[in-house]
This record gives sequence, structure tokens and C-alpha cells, in this order.
Amino acid sequence: MVLTNTKVNVIDHPLAAQALTKLRDFQTVSHDFRFTALRLSQYLVYEAMRDLKVKEVGVETPLGPGSGTAIVDYVILAPVLRAGLILAEAAQDLMPNSRIYHIGLRRDEETLEAKSYYAKLPESLPPDCRTYVLDPMLATGGSACAAISLFAKMGVQNIHLVSFLAAPEGVKRVHDQFPNVVITTASIDNNLNEFGYIVPGLGDAGDRIFGT
Ligand code: PRP
Ligand code: URA
Repeated sequence: MVLTNTKVNVIDHPLAAQALTKLRDFQTVSHDFRFTALRLSQYLVYEAMRDLKVKEVGVETPLGPGSGTAIVDYVILAPVLRAGLILAEAAQDLMPNSRIYHIGLRRDEETLEAKSYYAKLPESLPPDCRTYVLDPMLATGGSACAAISLFAKMGVQNIHLVSFLAAPEGVKRVHDQFPNVVITTASIDNNLNEFGYIVPGLGDAGDRIFGT
């Protein structure tokens, strides 16, 4: 089940809630964190892809002809490095035919602005493609907005953002700049602290997945 608040879907499921609690726990060690992050990624991507366009197709079962479903959307996955790789792994398992474009962004620790260090995009994209920007932490929103803007500039209209956690400040920044972007997350936390970390949050996602 999904709690829908216009363009923000906060997934509401005991499995997701328990996984997020495990990620929040400072005692969760790296390999448990990674395993649980992959699980939570599967739940989030599954919900984020709920409204993919489908068509009816025929299927032959062992007992004869039946009717079935095929996804028709052209799906793009855009993981924000580094932590977004875990969401991409889950999303690619669920949608093996999707295209993946990695976006390298690093937050400047002083200014908290996102600095780009990698982006390899094609010359053009179908304007009606489904793009999923995958960034586990929506904090100030600088990284998410930088990633979204790369696709918006190419004329892509159907952009979704998938995050483990969001701060209200990040949700506002994304929707001030990109009102049509749908955000799927497991929680909207209280606030950002003075260092731009989500509170209570889960700490530094990249460091907890890959090490400092
Ligand atoms: C983290 C996180 C997000 C970003 C969110 O990445 O994975 O991409 O910060 O913060 P923002 O909303 O304020 O921009 P970081 O820059 O630490 O890079 P990493 O994933 O490589 O550790
Ligand atoms: N990036 C993280 O990894 N964690 C936060 O809380 C904020 C940004």
C-alpha cells in the first residue's frame, strides 16, 4: 500500500519499515547494511514502477491460450553515484531491459552544493521515456535537482525520484524546481542538521554501503 500525497509516495509496508529501521541503527554493520539496503531498494522500485504503461498480450499456457501483460514504457535508470548504485542493482533486476546512465555527483562539505564529476548520457532520449533518478538520500535536494535537470534539459518529461529517506527541505527544493517529479521514499524525516544530514536519518549512506 502507498500513502499518496500529490507527488510524494511514502511507502507504507511493514517489510519496508523494518528494513529502514535496520538501516537507521548505528550498530548495523556494512554487509548487513548493504543486504538490507538492497531489500529496501526492491520495495521502493517496485512501488515507484506501479504505474508503468502496459499492453495486453497473448500467452500460451500449458492448458492453451490466455491473455497477459507486457510493459511498453522505455525505462531509464539514473543512479547517483555512489550510494544510488544499490538502488540501480535492485531496479535492474526488476527491469532487466532498462538503460542505465550513471550520474557522478559529490556534495561539497562546506557549501553542501552538488559538484558533478561524471555523466555519460546519450545524444537524445525519447521524450516520453520513464526516467528513474535513484538517490537514496534526499537531503538538501541539490544532488537530486542536479541529476533531474540533466534529463529535463533533454526534454524528458516523465521523471521519478526514488530515495530511501527524504528531508522536508529536499522535497520542497525538488518540487519548487520540478513540480511534476514524483518522489517515492520510505520516510520523510524531521529536518536537516547544520551539516546537511537528515535527522534522524541513517548517517552517510555511501560510507555505510561502501566504507569511508
Ligand atoms: C550523498 C547521497 C546523496 C547526497 C544527498 O552523496 O548519496 O547523493 O549526498 O545530499 P543532498 O540532497 O544534500 O545533495 P555524497 O555526495 O555523500 O556522495 P557518495 O554517495 O559518493 O558518498
Ligand atoms: N547524504 C547522506 O548520505 N546522508 C545524509 O543524511 C545526507 C546526505
